Amino acid sequence: MRSLLGDYVLQRLQQEQVGTLQQRLFRCLRHAMLEGILAPKIRLPASRDLAQEVKVSRNTVLGAYDQLQAEGYVEARTGRGTWVVEQLPDTYLSLPKAIFTQPEQAVQSYCQLSQRGSQLVGYAAASPHQWGAFVPGAPDVTEFPHHIFSRIQAKLSKSPQVEQLIYSNAGGCALLRQALAEHLRVARSVQCNPDQIIITEGIHQAIDLVTRTLSDVGDRVWIEDPAYWGVRNNLRVNGADIYPLPVDAEGIVPEENPTQSPKLIFVTPSHQYPLGVHLSLSRRKQLLQIAQQHGSWIVEDDYDSEFRFSGLPYPSLQGLEKDSRVIYMGTFSKTIYPALRIGYVVVPQALCTPLRTAAAELYRGGHLLIQRALAEFIKEGHYEAHIRRMRLLYAKRRNYLIELIRRYLGDAFLHEFDDASGLHLVLKLPVYIDDVALAQQALSRGIKVRALSQYYMYSHASVQRGLLLGFACVEASEMMSAFAVLLACLREVVYLKDSSDLTY
Ligand SMILES: Cc1ncc(COP(=O)(O)O)c(C=O)c1O
Repeated sequence: MRSLLGDYVLQRLQQEQVGTLQQRLFRCLRHAMLEGILAPKIRLPASRDLAQEVKVSRNTVLGAYDQLQAEGYVEARTGRGTWVVEQLPDTYLSLPKAIFTQPEQAVQSYCQLSQRGSQLVGYAAASPHQWGAFVPGAPDVTEFPHHIFSRIQAKLSKSPQVEQLIYSNAGGCALLRQALAEHLRVARSVQCNPDQIIITEGIHQAIDLVTRTLSDVGDRVWIEDPAYWGVRNNLRVNGADIYPLPVDAEGIVPEENPTQSPKLIFVTPSHQYPLGVHLSLSRRKQLLQIAQQHGSWIVEDDYDSEFRFSGLPYPSLQGLEKDSRVIYMGTFSKTIYPALRIGYVVVPQALCTPLRTAAAELYRGGHLLIQRALAEFIKEGHYEAHIRRMRLLYAKRRNYLIELIRRYLGDAFLHEFDDASGLHLVLKLPVYIDDVALAQQALSRGIKVRALSQYYMYSHASVQRGLLLGFACVEASEMMSAFAVLLACLREVVYLKDSSDLTY
């Protein structure tokens, strides 16, 4: 079987089109070193082996090795092969980072934040890296039919109606709420009429709205552990008594006899974030019963359920029982693009007026013209068609990533909770691995992954280690080399059982 380096060189050679074959091979190998695929102090394959694998003459490989040696990338040890040097020559060219860092204490002395503000900033978890391999949860924004959406927008903005240009205090564009109600009824079995829908600037804002209007400072709020950091940070800044509950193969494990009634229960039933499991029917019923008994509100975060790659989609928890105590949230961030900042919350009839009023007081809604365009986009069938197309594309990318994991790491690295849906998967790691350090190491080599352990509220014995890998915004052609970089990082910290492919 061809080695990983062989695969990488073959792919990379197609991109390197200038110069002789020897020069192109030299650049491929140098690139592999700069990317960390060929780590420092690693032995290069014998020239004969590499020549055979990438189907070039042995002299071409020897010439490329000579050039690497002349430029200080490798050293030849007599009788022991060719080795990557410890410090690549390029590292001497970059300036030390410390020169540019801000003297933090000086800033702190005159910018005193409130306790709440300091906590929020201290726990900030939003990544500045939102695009590229393997950003978790990022959709492929380049695939959206922008030409169709901009045509609709252009038509509508030629003669906008006054109502589309003033503040919104009716929960958002009526036509969008109508289109959404129909879509959610069919696609997610959500029981609602358009009045029950409030358009928000994404689920993030919906979480804030619900937390502020339905809980008070000190109220107990259940969350999944691990959970989406956005929920935790929002609850913290709103003074909730956050109560993390473990997640097993059936989803969140509710407290049997709660000592204190939860005011809110935040869950991701279709695709637990980040582990990927779906909430079983018995747990769904158990949660509904608890909510009924304790007067709690279940908040169903249905952030990526449109992307299920095998079997039928799981219907929403909200639709399971009539008039249940469930508040349902969804978003266009994954199906269209995150910068659109449009999401929605479906609230029980009795909460429509107060929550709509609260939303208008807190956020002063707007963006009605683009909401109107979105309504038309949905009505004309483009939304459904786009989701269908992306489902196929993401399924391919996901399969390719799984294949790479299986081939180079083995099944043990795939999380057993994975349920073939969403835009990311969890690469499971042995518990002794520092996944945070590993994610940082990967980032320093241009690979954006997030550490699973950071999604837990506290550090404890059951914290699992792993990496969240987003596959949706990575083309298959790019995935191979990105994965190779990740493997190089992994190899430094994990003992890989079948590493024959990895010893160059
Ligand atoms: C579980 C979960 N909920 C909510 C969101 C945020 O959605 P929005 O962009 O609509 O605020 C995300 C974003 O990745 C998420 O992973």
